[in-house]
This record gives sequence, structure tokens and C-alpha cells, in this order.
Amino acid sequence: MVVAKRVGVDVILWLAMAFVVAVEGGKQRVRPVIGPDIYEGHNVAKDVLAPGEKINNVMSFGAKPDGKFDCTQAFMDAWRATCKSKVQARILVPQGKFVVSSMYFSGPCTTPGPVTVQVEGTVIATTDISEYADGEWLMFQDLSGFKLIGGGTFDGQGKDSWSETENCETTNSESACVRNPSSIFFDNVSNGIIQNIKSLNPKGFHIFITNSANIRLRLLKLASADTSPNTDGIHLSHTINVKISKSTIETGDDCVSMIQGVSNVSIKRLKCGPGHGISIGSLGKYENELEVRGIRVENCTLVGTTNGLRIKSWPEKYAGLATDISFTDVTMENVKNPIIIDQEYQCTPGNCKKKPSLVKIANVDFINVKGSTISPIAVDLRCSHQFPCQNVRLHNIDLKLVPSPAGSRCANIKPIYGGIQMPPACP
Ligand SMILES: *[C@@H]1O[C@H](CO)[C@@H](O)[C@H](O)[C@H]1NC(C)=O
Ligand SMILES: *[C@@H]1O[C@H](CO)[C@@H](O)[C@H](O)[C@H]1NC(C)=O
Ligand SMILES: *[C@@H]1O[C@H](CO)[C@@H](O)[C@H](O)[C@H]1NC(C)=O
Repeated sequence: MVVAKRVGVDVILWLAMAFVVAVEGGKQRVRPVIGPDIYEGHNVAKDVLAPGEKINNVMSFGAKPDGKFDCTQAFMDAWRATCKSKVQARILVPQGKFVVSSMYFSGPCTTPGPVTVQVEGTVIATTDISEYADGEWLMFQDLSGFKLIGGGTFDGQGKDSWSETENCETTNSESACVRNPSSIFFDNVSNGIIQNIKSLNPKGFHIFITNSANIRLRLLKLASADTSPNTDGIHLSHTINVKISKSTIETGDDCVSMIQGVSNVSIKRLKCGPGHGISIGSLGKYENELEVRGIRVENCTLVGTTNGLRIKSWPEKYAGLATDISFTDVTMENVKNPIIIDQEYQCTPGNCKKKPSLVKIANVDFINVKGSTISPIAVDLRCSHQFPCQNVRLHNIDLKLVPSPAGSRCANIKPIYGGIQMPPACP
């Protein structure tokens, strides 16, 4: 397949991004290389109108807040006016219910300063899945400086589509599982903020971010039933410099999932559950996968999730690397697999007949992880026989299984233990 190729990288100068051509699932992909973070050192929590900033209310472009009228054209017209504005500009979606189908919010924009989409009301997805042939619901792409804010709600109306989809995590299919459209999709966005919004019942992922850099996700409330398949809360691929904080995710799949090409991610004060926990991987699924590096998870709570902190890779298949990862100050409540490295993904644990995973896992810290589990194996570290995990540290682990004590399992790993170990360390 295609070999990753560097095309004109210039890290220092004004160019917000340069690109590395990469491949995911046989499809050409671009990966941004970090440019300047325009929000660094600014208080992003505050939304202030820039002097002379133009407000484009979707109602002025023909949108009707009745929850029936198709507002797609009105939103597109409002976007065009905003993105092509000569002065800084924003879209306002006021109180009310606005139905829109699949649509693009594409740049590059000519406005000075970041473009804002301020949603105060509820944006509702149409339910006819055939309208989503382009892939996702609300697609924000090729933007440099973008904010999605306002306290409003994105209702993906996913229920009908869930019944027609296979569950990518439980079916043992190794073929690409067909994804339903994500509600909010960022592709090639740099300096993006998603703050103070709610997402309900997406058809696919709540938020999907790819080929992007310098992204902040704050004060989000993402919710769908624990039975909704493949509804990851925040899914990241090929993305650099992400801060996720102060958010609540209740969903039917991973709360946060990070796959190839993701680096420098901080996740703080996230409450997750129900859901499948915070996941790195699955890795080693595609040829020429880019590494996952520099993931810091701190001060998070997982409640009733099937997994807690998980790194997973496919046996056999392709090479990959996950390194420099830390999980610190994490509280578990009734979590099934609180700490799990699974390099036998979708293969019988401990009796996998496939060749070992080619993904390397190194420099992973689990520090101050406490609470309760519902599983007899609370710490499950199953690494590759060919590439045993390197430098995995467990410090102050305190996980209780009521009434019996919880246990550990280790394969192809010599963890470095420190502090309390409950369950007891592997022999
Ligand atoms: C990414 O977006 C920027 C605008 O922010 C644009 O200039 C650039 O061409 C886009 N890259 C690709 C590969 O489309
Ligand atoms: C990692 O991201 C943070 C912002 O989230 C940024 O301040 C820092 O410079 C980044 N580190 C690297 C090595 O890019
Ligand atoms: C952890 O989170 C809680 C609330 O979620 C907050 O009050 C506390 O300050 C945080 N601690 C650290 C060390 O960030």
C-alpha cells in the first residue's frame, strides 16, 4: 500500500498546518502537523463578541424553529455568509427546534479571527439515513480557528438507525464495520473549540475528530442509551494536541477512543458511564498505522462501564505503537475491566490461537486508580508474546470486588509495581 510521505512540513511559520499523507483503511488521509495554538494562554471559557462581529441568525436566512421545516438550506446560506464575511462573524441558532440534514460547514474561511457557531436551541437530524451518503451529519472541515458553543443541543435522532447496524465491538467481523454518521465531525480543523453543548442520540459517534490539531473540548454533555451500538462519545484519529475537560459522557460505546496518529491529548475531569470506558485502540488494524503517543488521563470517574482504562490491539495484522501514556487519579464505580491491556482483541483471552499482535506498547503508568469493580480480574494485562509490553507501571491501585477480593492476570509483561496493590500483583 501507499507509504507515508512528507509533503512540505514547516513547523515554525505562520502556516497553521502542513500535512503528512497517510492511509487509514485503504483511504488516503492527511495528518496535520502542529501549527501555533491561537488560544494558548487565553481564557477560552469566556465568549465575548469581537468588536464589530457580525451575527448571522439562521432565522434571517429562512430557518423555522418549529421542529418540522427542513432548515438545511438556511443553515448553508448562513454558513456561506459567515465564512465569506469580511469582518469577524458568527452563526446564531436561537432557541427553538431546527431540523437539518447532512451538511458541510467548509472552509477555508476568509473572515479575520475564528468563526463561531453559537447554538442556543436544538438542532435535530433528519431520520432518513439515505440523506447521509456523504458520511456524517454536521461536517466541519478545512477550518483554522473555529468555535462551536452556546449551550444548545444536537439531537441525532439515532434510534432507528441503531437497530439496522451491527455492533462493531461485539461482532467478530474483521472487515470494516459500517459506521453510522457521526453527529459532529471535524476534518482538517486547527484551533477548534467545542464547548458547552449537548449531544443526544447520535446515529454513530457523538463527536469524531480527524486530521486536526489544537482542539479543546469542554463542558460537554453527551448522552445516549447504553444499548446504542457504536456511539463513541469522542473519537479521535490523526489528531494532535487535544484537551478534553469537565465533561460527562453516557453512551453505548467508548466514552473516548483514540486510534492511530493521535498525540498529545489531555483528558481531565471526565465522567464516563454507562459506556465502554476510555480506550486507546484498537491498534494494528491497518497497514502503516501512525503511533499513539502522549496521552494523559487525570482526575476522571468511570461509573458502571464495561471497561475502565483500556489499550487494545489486534492479534496478527499490522504493526503499531502506543507509548507515553498515563492514567492518574481515576475513580471506578462498579467497572467491569478497570485496568486492561488487551493485545488479543476479539480473540479468546489467554487462549488466542492467532499470531501475536505486532503493536508495541511502552511507558504506560496507572497511578492512584481506586474504587470498585464487578470483575474477578480487575487488572488484566495481556501483552503480545512477540512484543512484550515495556515499562508499564502500576502505583497505588485499590480496586475492590464485593464480596470476594479481585485478582490480576499478566501475560508477556513484567509490570513495575509501587504503593498499594489491590488486587495483589501478578506472581
Ligand atoms: C486544510 O484546511 C486549510 C484551511 O484551514 C486549507 O488551507 C488546507 O488546504 C486544508 N487542507 C486540505 C488537505 O484540504
Ligand atoms: C501539547 O498540547 C498542549 C496543549 O494541549 C500544548 O501546550 C503543548 O505545547 C503540546 N506539546 C507539544 C509537544 O506539542
Ligand atoms: C478533580 O476533580 C474535582 C471535580 O471533578 C475537582 O474538584 C478537583 O479539584 C480536581 N482535582 C485535580 C487535582 O484536578
